[in-house]
Amino acid sequence: MVLVSAKEMIDKAHEGHYAIPAFNTNNLEWTKCILAACEEMKSPVIIQTSESAAKYMGGYKMVVDMVKDLHESMGITIPVALHLDHGSYEGAKLCIETGYTSVMFDGSHFDFEENVEKSKEIIMLAHSVGVSVECEVGGIGGTEDGVTSNGELADPEECKKIAELGVDFLAAGIGNIHGKYPANWAGLNFDRLNEINEAVNGKPLVLHGGSGIPFEQTSKAITMGVSKINVNTELQLAFAAATRDFIVAGKDLEGKNYDPRKLLKPGCDAIIAKAKELIKGFGSDNKA
Ligand code: 13P
Repeated sequence: MVLVSAKEMIDKAHEGHYAIPAFNTNNLEWTKCILAACEEMKSPVIIQTSESAAKYMGGYKMVVDMVKDLHESMGITIPVALHLDHGSYEGAKLCIETGYTSVMFDGSHFDFEENVEKSKEIIMLAHSVGVSVECEVGGIGGTEDGVTSNGELADPEECKKIAELGVDFLAAGIGNIHGKYPANWAGLNFDRLNEINEAVNGKPLVLHGGSGIPFEQTSKAITMGVSKINVNTELQLAFAAATRDFIVAGKDLEGKNYDPRKLLKPGCDAIIAKAKELIKGFGSDNKA
């Protein structure tokens, strides 16, 4: 099989005290750059899409075909999983059918009993076809309509109950948020992470909102069971800044730099450089 479930790579990372980078992709360039960076660093990788990013790219089947085809045409040798990020109940089911090798069912906005029931169903369905599953307990903060919330803290008892359903890895809020961290962010809550890690009895944990967290904190989180770190915003910021510099310097007007292969190159190079830096920081280099 070209793409693999994320279970084995995450279990190995958990045992070996490093974290698998889970990079969100947005398009063909992103996917190529992520694969190139991870292949060069010999890092296993999870490529993930939100439901809306998959829709933007033309749908789940298009994403599955694109990742598989690039994997083959680029001669990729590292383990690659294709994962649905923050999936709905329906979205997770569709991705399992369409060829994603891993899904997140995010039932954190349901009341807890409903989250448990739906998580259980998705876990059974996914496992029957060898697809790995991530579930979420408690919410993860972020910026919505311009208001940045504080990161939420998951309840260790609820984490324990979801872990016991047989989920492969678990996302739990520990003060992390999606998007840019505000200047007055309090940092990750290690006391809560410690309590959750003890409650889930060795189940690998997922850190969402991995963009911009100092490596000192991600490294400490890894020692407390975090084995998958999600990054989206940081690659977007790297791409946008490099593209902006290129255009502000007027380089897009030189020669044939209007050709997208040239216009997008500085941004693509920046994605590769940032992904390599993160892989090194998470310790997943040379683990493929
Ligand atoms: P960031 O955009 O903050 O890196 O968060 C990514 C994420 O957690 C996706 O689920």
